[in-house]
Amino acid sequence: MAFTFFFRDAQTLELLVEEALPTLCGQAFIRIWDAGCAHGPECYTLAMLLREKMSDYVFHNVRIHATDVDRQFGPQITSGIYAQQEVQRIPPPIRERYFRPAMDPGRVQVTEEIRAKVSFSEHDLLSLTPPREDFSLIICKNVLLHFDEAQRLDVFRMFHRALRPGGLLATEHTQKIPAAVGPLFQQAVSNAQIYRKIEIPSALERDPSSGATRRVDLPGGRPVSPCGCNSQVLSGG
Ligand SMILES: C[S@@+](CC[C@H](N)C(=O)[O-])C[C@H]1O[C@@H](n2cnc3c(N)ncnc32)[C@H](O)[C@@H]1O
Repeated sequence: MAFTFFFRDAQTLELLVEEALPTLCGQAFIRIWDAGCAHGPECYTLAMLLREKMSDYVFHNVRIHATDVDRQFGPQITSGIYAQQEVQRIPPPIRERYFRPAMDPGRVQVTEEIRAKVSFSEHDLLSLTPPREDFSLIICKNVLLHFDEAQRLDVFRMFHRALRPGGLLATEHTQKIPAAVGPLFQQAVSNAQIYRKIEIPSALERDPSSGATRRVDLPGGRPVSPCGCNSQVLSGG
């Protein structure tokens, strides 16, 4: 069983919701990717925090795509059934609102309204193919630390591709954006690892083999600047 728990690093998830909310309220489809979700506490925590902050109308538009390389987590996430001990850390008012006793003694089930927002699929981040490319939010916590530096860079580039314009990426405290992909994201919240996607001008092309973005010059030799102030190559392969 992967190590995770309900309301783990809830502060980052709360800051993410706070930062995202004004934009999400105007979106007809709010797609969220929880990459490396383990057996579900993280995606359900996020769903509960969103439910707390959103109107019925806006929450109706939320879809959380929970993925993990380990397919064994699917049945539990779909059922939303957890041992009573697993939900002890959840603040009591939230626990009372979003869990019901399950048929089995000693177990509880996430309410239908919250379960309906979450779907699980098996997905390997190292495939470098995102499930979709229109996510408003991506959460990937305590997963990338298992990858080597080159793999991490590739996965960050994939996350950039998978986010819609202005989308947000959240990682754990110790997982900062590496310098090589720094130009793809800007920190959105000063005291958390929450980053906003930076749009890459179309004159910057992606190297098909490495996925790296690189500068191309406009006809006539005028250098294209990614930020309007210099003409440096954005990121190495
Ligand atoms: C420590 S758990 C983190 C769970 C949750 N994100 C959290 O922070 O509490 C790490 C998860 O990453 C998953 N994982 C490891 N390698 C992966 C890969 N290549 N693609 C997708 N998930 C992966 C593991 O199966 C495990 O469920």
